[in-house]
Amino acid sequence: MEIAPGAHLFPRYLTIERQHALADQCRAAIDGTVPAYVPIVRGGGRMHVRMLCLGRHWNAQTYRYETARSDFDGLPAPPLPLELRELAHEIAEHAGMNLDADVCILNYYAADGKMGLHQDKDEGPLSLAAGIPVVSVSIGDTARFLFGGLKRRDPIETITLESGDAFVFGGPARLRYHGVSRITPDTAPRELALSGRFNLTFRQSDEACRASS
Ligand code: SIN
Ligand code: MN
Repeated sequence: MEIAPGAHLFPRYLTIERQHALADQCRAAIDGTVPAYVPIVRGGGRMHVRMLCLGRHWNAQTYRYETARSDFDGLPAPPLPLELRELAHEIAEHAGMNLDADVCILNYYAADGKMGLHQDKDEGPLSLAAGIPVVSVSIGDTARFLFGGLKRRDPIETITLESGDAFVFGGPARLRYHGVSRITPDTAPRELALSGRFNLTFRQSDEACRASS
């Protein structure tokens, strides 16, 4: 479903079996040897999610990607598993786009989790100019996702993201503002035994653009 040029929503893209496997993988990752943490952004505010970056780390102080978490504990970002890269590639392909992700930002939203309106614009000038998409996968509780325009003050559309949904924004939609205004507790499929929501966003940084060119 194309909801705007370059923005595609695939409701229930993942079967419940794939959601289950992904939920288990996310749970293990956020409490693994390199655990998720609550980033403090440049202005000093604490984010309202627990974040774990795979592949490369997004530094919440510098808004740049790096190999180790220098804004937190100095631990290296865990690798991005091949099957996740393949999943992101497959979803982008469904939207008619190409993505060779080297980064996945895994966020966990508890019942009070949210994320303010922002653009994803730190992947680098090559990636952004090429309109290489961000692929987002949601698992667990339903989110009220806000999708705006290229300017902060543009009108905002509300999209419901449910467990198993995939959302792709690339090309002319790549720099659209977006955020999450709320999570609806207890809406995750019962089979997942998950309270809260995981969101994975896959991105291709300039590092990966250079490597593949
Ligand atoms: C993000 O913008 O990085 C996360 C979006 C979401 O949680 O759906
Ligand atoms: Mn984002």
